[in-house]
Amino acid sequence: MKLNNKISVVTGAGQGMGRTMVQYFVEQGAIVYAVDVNAQALEETVQGLDGKAHAVVCDITNETAVADLMARIEQEQGRLDLLVNNAGIGSVDGFLETTLETWQRVINVNLTGAFLCSREAAKLMVKAGSGAIVNFSSTAGQTGEGPSHYVASKAGIMGLTRSTARELAPSGIRVNSLVPGATDTPMMAGIPQEWMDSMIAGIPLGRLGTTLEIARVVAFLGSDDASFITGQNIAVNGGMAFY
Ligand SMILES: NC(=O)c1ccc[n+]([C@@H]2O[C@H](COP(=O)([O-])OP(=O)(O)OC[C@H]3O[C@@H](n4cnc5c(N)ncnc54)[C@H](O)[C@@H]3O)[C@@H](O)[C@H]2O)c1
Repeated sequence: MKLNNKISVVTGAGQGMGRTMVQYFVEQGAIVYAVDVNAQALEETVQGLDGKAHAVVCDITNETAVADLMARIEQEQGRLDLLVNNAGIGSVDGFLETTLETWQRVINVNLTGAFLCSREAAKLMVKAGSGAIVNFSSTAGQTGEGPSHYVASKAGIMGLTRSTARELAPSGIRVNSLVPGATDTPMMAGIPQEWMDSMIAGIPLGRLGTTLEIARVVAFLGSDDASFITGQNIAVNGGMAFY
């Protein structure tokens, strides 16, 4: 079991990659705090996990709510071993049509949310002298293929990862970016078939990734097997881009 007794937080746990990570991490021995804004979806995520996963309704852009979550974990568990900043949103806008409101909403969830969760989690990890953080970037953050707010937020995640990896390393904390390629989740459901076909044509392995293929790599990054990996972009993308 890769994550035996690891106290973990997964944000964006109501569906998609987040839901699969909660379920896989529990299989791997972890105790997981599953965080999302959608209470009903969270209940479905933690169902049947034998009390090893706790559903926490929390908006990661709310500084007080994030601090409260980490205080609760400290009180209940005494430490936090793994934070996965997976929650993310997108929106399809041409650059000239992008409103300030949309720009701020996407940057807030994708980048500021990861900052707030990382800062509060790192306070616990520094006390313990160990921990791991996995941030979710996107292939779009490197290639620029996507709306400006989303691309900027995901490129920003790579910067946040590198800076925190350097600053937190002396405290025994590792920070990496997981860079998914096109993965089969509800986020992809609205994409027209034509786009989907052209996307798949650009993936050497010839298909979308699965959420389990993402979860396995995040579990590895959070485990002691990855003890000398920090500050890196780890791409799980069927070969659609090389980092
Ligand atoms: N699906 C893909 O192909 C793909 C590709 C590259 C990167 N990504 C990234 O991977 C991550 C997961 O993607 P997914 O497809 O599983 O997403 P998804 O849309 O299926 O799920 C995201 C979850 O985040 C939650 N969420 C949104 N705002 C929140 C907030 N403020 N606080 C807490 N939770 C919030 C949503 O309620 C939802 O349950 C995202 O960061 C996404 O940008 C996805």
